[in-house]
Amino acid sequence: MTFDALKPKIKTLVSNSSTVDETLLWICDLLRTEIPHYDWVGFYFRNGDKEELRLGPYAGAPTDHTIIPFGKGICGQVAISNQNFVVPDVKAQDNYIACSISVKSEIVIPLFVNGKNIGQIDIDSNSIDPFTDADERFLEFVCQSVATLM
Ligand code: SME
Repeated sequence: MTFDALKPKIKTLVSNSSTVDETLLWICDLLRTEIPHYDWVGFYFRNGDKEELRLGPYAGAPTDHTIIPFGKGICGQVAISNQNFVVPDVKAQDNYIACSISVKSEIVIPLFVNGKNIGQIDIDSNSIDPFTDADERFLEFVCQSVATLM
């Protein structure tokens, strides 16, 4: 399904009356099912006042990395930089936390509420260099939509 076709589905999911975690899980499932190069889709959120991220809802293989300190890995770097991070080839990254040997690339987009970076969406792909500007714009849309729930 195209990003444009997915956008109204995201809007419908965020406007239903389910819990935040249920809604986030549906979004993860939708993206993983409908976008061929999305093999793992999950949300990480700041863990209270701690300088660490905690795994929220996700779709894909379970990961051991349920807590990620700020600064560690791609996710931990985005928690500090407040910038999108596109990794075409994870092998080229020194500061990277491997979740599975099948993962070849990753994209992490921060999630802002009232200008504050409160978490992120993290996508792993088993393809090399699959992410384009269109992924970034679409995932920014997803994060902005999710922010309305927070
Ligand atoms: N690869 C991430 C860790 C999270 S997993 O992709 C689920 C990172 O380097 O931060």
